[in-house]
Amino acid sequence: MLEIDCQAKGFPQDAPALMERVAESVCRLEGIEDVGAYVRVVDDEAIHAINAAERGVDRPTDVLSFPSIDWRGGTARSDRARLRREYDPETGLCFLGDIIISIDRAREQAAEYGHSLARELGYLTAHAMLHLCGYDHMTDEDKAVMRDREEKVMADVNLPREGGYLTDEELFRRAEAMLDRAYAPYSHFRVGACILAEDGRVFTGCNIENASLGATICAERTAAVKAVSEGATKFLAVAIAGEKEAAWPCGICRQFLREFGPEMRVIVGKKGGPTSTATLAELLPHSFGPEDLSC
Ligand code: THU
Repeated sequence: MLEIDCQAKGFPQDAPALMERVAESVCRLEGIEDVGAYVRVVDDEAIHAINAAERGVDRPTDVLSFPSIDWRGGTARSDRARLRREYDPETGLCFLGDIIISIDRAREQAAEYGHSLARELGYLTAHAMLHLCGYDHMTDEDKAVMRDREEKVMADVNLPREGGYLTDEELFRRAEAMLDRAYAPYSHFRVGACILAEDGRVFTGCNIENASLGATICAERTAAVKAVSEGATKFLAVAIAGEKEAAWPCGICRQFLREFGPEMRVIVGKKGGPTSTATLAELLPHSFGPEDLSC
């Protein structure tokens, strides 16, 4: 849905997937399908020039949105006939407009809030997409509505916090909550896991056993495949909760996780709270990883 053009240096590798997920979430919330929007990621100097030319504002700002549809937030859902008229018969798409983001501002704001650049880019995408959908923050009332939508979207893409990463304790609580979903009819050893990705998103999982026992997947690998398939490929931490016993990751999981975070923290415990922490490098010394393959 998003066409992202970024010539700016230091654009995080995981950011496009996250921004796309954010845009999809906004459109789901608004009830708009088959959407197109154009995003340009630039530096402060470029956004300063656009601010001066288009708005008479003589400074860089974090994000600019140029909606191509003149509507009020929420009306896409309430006025379906109107929405249908906004589709281009040739492309079958509803083009919402253009977004310009300053990577310099985003970087500064990320540092200020203590979260990742990818997370800040995700938040700015949510804000801008909502503008393209007709939301604004001119009055306190409109601002509150827009803020509420932003929060819904950020929670939907697993970026629920204002600032900072979830703590080890919070990650463990989420791992623990997954114990109820564990499918362990053979071993009755229920496990929940929660991975913290570098972009701030969290992904949970549980063990899923199989009548053909070898087809079983551990909780932490379930969480890892969810993360990677959503575009998060760098992990900072994994929390693993056993129902009755704490469980360190098995050999296969250590190797599987290593690909996405050789230095990640591993927090283990049983129902009630975390009991030990280690790094993956400690659990899998002299490991083999992508850097060892020259191709
Ligand atoms: N298991 C996990 O999910 N994670 C671990 O860290 C250790 C083991 C699961 C796999 C299987 O369903 C059950 O625990 C017993 O081995």
